Amino acid sequence: MKVLVATEKPFAKAAVDGIREIVEKNGHTLALLENYTDVNDLYKAVADADALIVRSDKVTKEVVDAAKNLKIVVRAGAGYDNLDLEACTAKGIVAMNTPGQNSNAVAELIMGMMIYMARNQFTPASGTELAGKKLGIHAFGNIGRLVAKYGQGLGMDVYVYRPTGGTVDAPGVTQVATVEELYSTCNYVSLHIPANDKTKKSIGYDLLSKMPKGGTLINAARKEVIDEEGLAKAFAERTDLKYATDVAATTHADLVKQFEGRVYATPKKMGAQTSEANINAGLASANQIVNFFATGDKTYQVN
Ligand code: 3PG
Repeated sequence: MKVLVATEKPFAKAAVDGIREIVEKNGHTLALLENYTDVNDLYKAVADADALIVRSDKVTKEVVDAAKNLKIVVRAGAGYDNLDLEACTAKGIVAMNTPGQNSNAVAELIMGMMIYMARNQFTPASGTELAGKKLGIHAFGNIGRLVAKYGQGLGMDVYVYRPTGGTVDAPGVTQVATVEELYSTCNYVSLHIPANDKTKKSIGYDLLSKMPKGGTLINAARKEVIDEEGLAKAFAERTDLKYATDVAATTHADLVKQFEGRVYATPKKMGAQTSEANINAGLASANQIVNFFATGDKTYQVN
């Protein structure tokens, strides 16, 4: 079988080497398409692939249609909003993710972004400390759990809201019953919700306006969950609010201009961009594909 790794934002070399080893050891062949800028290159590369590994690369209906032999696509990562699941299902293609494999990298970046904002984006003006502040975790998946733990390590009081229900089983963490309570309680809120029809544009004026003085929203999830107009309205009314994101808003340049010093985005989405995360997610993808072909194992199927 031919396994294509198509990554507009490439994995670390060690991850690619590891993927190659797993694929070839199991009698398959590996093809690589890295750093592509033209989607036509993806259509061409995927044409005869039996399996596909991607990161945030969009696997649209067009990609699926171009892939005549495709049986499985694995999103090396957690969020799979970049996969057209309907198109995959219609063609009998199994879609998977690799939950948890890159969580630590994202959680560490979130802690870095919180400190960066507390210290005025590393400028010498007097900043604030995280210890003693209230940290809100909006959704408690693999990354949320780590951020809660690391927040506690820094002396923060951690609050969690679980949109999907269920009890929070982490020691020392306070579970709140409503999303409004999370935002009105916490100095920092870190987003851990996926982008879907329910969550898109769900974080905006109403929630941000509820935050205590100096309230800081940290978004290493998806830009689509933010109501950018609502955020701008809240920030115009409240000169103390701050926003740091790993996924720049569509209106990022305007926001930075309007709210100088209060809005920050990483230069390019980089939460999962560590060699450890690349190796974990890349190797998991390769193993899932190899097992799928060997035994029909569909663990982590999302469609
Ligand atoms: C994920 O959903 O796993 C993260 O957003 C990582 O995305 P990336 O592979 O594009 O870095």
